[in-house]
Amino acid sequence: MKVSIIGGGGLVGSCTAFALQTGKIVREIALLDANEEMAAGQALDLLHGASLMADQVITSGGYEHIPASDLICITAGLRRKPDESRLDLINRNVDLFVQILASIQQAGHKPEATVLVVSNPVDVLTHLAAARLDLPPARVLGLGTQLDTIRFRALISQRLELPPTQIKALILGEHGDSMVPIWSSATAAGLPLDKFPGWNAHLAGELFTRTKGSGAEVIKRKGGAGFAVGLAIQEVIEAIALDRRAILPVSSVQSGCYGIRDVALSVPTVVGAAGVVGTYEIELWPKEMQALRKSGQVLRQTVDTVLTRIGGN
Ligand code: 2OP
Repeated sequence: MKVSIIGGGGLVGSCTAFALQTGKIVREIALLDANEEMAAGQALDLLHGASLMADQVITSGGYEHIPASDLICITAGLRRKPDESRLDLINRNVDLFVQILASIQQAGHKPEATVLVVSNPVDVLTHLAAARLDLPPARVLGLGTQLDTIRFRALISQRLELPPTQIKALILGEHGDSMVPIWSSATAAGLPLDKFPGWNAHLAGELFTRTKGSGAEVIKRKGGAGFAVGLAIQEVIEAIALDRRAILPVSSVQSGCYGIRDVALSVPTVVGAAGVVGTYEIELWPKEMQALRKSGQVLRQTVDTVLTRIGGN
């Protein structure tokens, strides 16, 4: 599989490339960036480690890489300021994103290419990509709350002193302020999380609040996320490369799951070679369902605002 990372010169893009290199699954990694010198430098730095990793092709360049790409990962975009919400970021990033979509179309892509949107606000931009690219809806997905979910699991594990890989706890909905913690199915080692020593409702609230604020916390401390978001992206891309049919909380335009339509957000999604293979509408607590639908409403309002500003899909 050839993966082209648009924004590959930046922190998120280069950490994604490093995660894919250490994953050893994809065959070719191309770093595309407006700052060509930076992308070339990232690719060279990665190449230097290739003899210890895998027989992969690691390159950089421009949209000439798009026609041969099996997966196009879009990480380019301006980062939020510490006190800026993802949706506030939208006007600054939508214009850039629309240009990127036009460049992809102009370069020409495989009819069976998959596009993974990471740029923020990821749900709104995923919706735009699905509307503007001539790809089947199933082949346009967004990282969504995959990153929030792995942060949530890690923070829970740290507080309860349990192995992070054995914590299963989902975040669904918007990758943003209206994201929803799914406590109804949260487990550690397959056992109900709320039965573990030290668990209480206050702790649950604290952990979710810190998860929701993790993006801003990382931006404040080090300027922006890199390592975890790269690993989050790697899991999605390798699920596609291996046709794993993994169930991941990624974003795509919904057509009725949990009663949500015509807006991109994260629900339990089967991810495989065909992109979005399907979704699971597993029963949630009533308050979780309500919050998920609220998340859809928030995003729909923003999408309408954006579409009005840029003149429609
Ligand atoms: C984050 O939450 C980049 O939106 C991403 O850090």
